[in-house]
Amino acid sequence: KDSITSAEDKKIRKELDAADKLVDDGDYDTALKKFDALLDIFPNSPRALYGRAQAEDKVAEKWKSNEWLQTCIDTYGKVPSQKNCPKELKKQALMRQANRLSFYGKLRQAVKAMGRLNELVPGEPEILNQLGVSYLMVGNNNAAKRVFGEVMQIRPEDGFAQVHLGFILKSETRYDEAIPLLREGIQTGEEGTIDGRFFFHLGDALYRTGQPEEYWYKNGADRGLFASMYQRSLYNEPNLRAQPFWTPEDGGDNFIRAVKRLESSWRIIRAEGLKNMDAEKGVFLPEEENLKNTGDWKQFTLFQRGKKQEANCKRAPETCSIISFIKDATGCTRGQVKYSIMQPGTHVWPHTGPTNCRLRMHLGLVIPKNGTRLRVADDIRTWQEGKVLIFDDSFEHEVWQEADSYRMILIIDMWHPDLTDKQKKTLTPI
Ligand code: LMR
Ligand code: MN
Repeated sequence: KDSITSAEDKKIRKELDAADKLVDDGDYDTALKKFDALLDIFPNSPRALYGRAQAEDKVAEKWKSNEWLQTCIDTYGKVPSQKNCPKELKKQALMRQANRLSFYGKLRQAVKAMGRLNELVPGEPEILNQLGVSYLMVGNNNAAKRVFGEVMQIRPEDGFAQVHLGFILKSETRYDEAIPLLREGIQTGEEGTIDGRFFFHLGDALYRTGQPEEYWYKNGADRGLFASMYQRSLYNEPNLRAQPFWTPEDGGDNFIRAVKRLESSWRIIRAEGLKNMDAEKGVFLPEEENLKNTGDWKQFTLFQRGKKQEANCKRAPETCSIISFIKDATGCTRGQVKYSIMQPGTHVWPHTGPTNCRLRMHLGLVIPKNGTRLRVADDIRTWQEGKVLIFDDSFEHEVWQEADSYRMILIIDMWHPDLTDKQKKTLTPI
């Protein structure tokens, strides 16, 4: 601990070490008292402050207390401004402060703490990498790109910077640049590089540029990053049945009832879809997740993350009232209810939904006789008017619309039937 102990703190080194040990041993109350006693006499002792922050940090963790969390964040923040605070201690305090801030969801403040740290010790790859991650978390991809680029100037073979830069370039559809970065970054095996997101987007970028992708999906599945080669969702709950297509019976009573309700009201649902299709522009919005290869694909959303879209439901009141009886759909905070219209000439790239916690129902509303297909894993099917198709969109799926007129369906995401009520209530929305 020499590097974090100032000349003044050396004089009370024994007491400081003893108090730290109390924290290590889990006796946080006594540790806090000890640090307070030390701070009474040496109010500017950097290590006493840091020790106190660590004790508060542990208490916050133990009691899952946000108040203590904020307290430790504040104390960590005071450490670097103490007179004669060793650089190494400033580093550790700011690093942990930023980490706790992002844990608390205070992402902008986390960026600030990392920025402060980067000014203190410029040009350190580890710090720049963490700064890059915090920029990514606030959605500032350009700043993140700049920072990861800076790391690669300093250390071209830095795997962490490579995968993150590759990830950002992939999201900008710069596949040719993204691919080598993702591949080489993963191949370093460095901490933080073996992450499902990087395998996911490397495979996708390869596929979209006509190169073999299976190796990375298999590799990801072998490492446990994916449930399987085909099921590549990244927000998963354990022990849920997983199969590409489902029957209503597979889903149990709630599913059987929901399908009956939808199939018996499909003409009303279709009429409201058609009415809004003809309405002024801006009701049906283009798909925005960059899943489309060619064509025209638009959606009109009624429920999203378990929230009714009031304005849209006013435009489709009967449909929303029909859906409101299906609690596993209206309450599904990891899904949506939406109309989906696909025009001829549309191809949707093979893709995978974010979570295994939902199953996706498609109610056929306007289905051309020939030329539309949905592939889920190895199974290709098509829609029928007035009939519900159920699949698990955490499996890779792909859509072709090669008919001579448009196709309209209603998509209804349902909580996976194997989830408990508690899971349905507490899972974070997606
Ligand atoms: C999907 O859910 O990805 C697609 O199948 C949606 C659609 O409109 O076909
Ligand atoms: Mn999909």
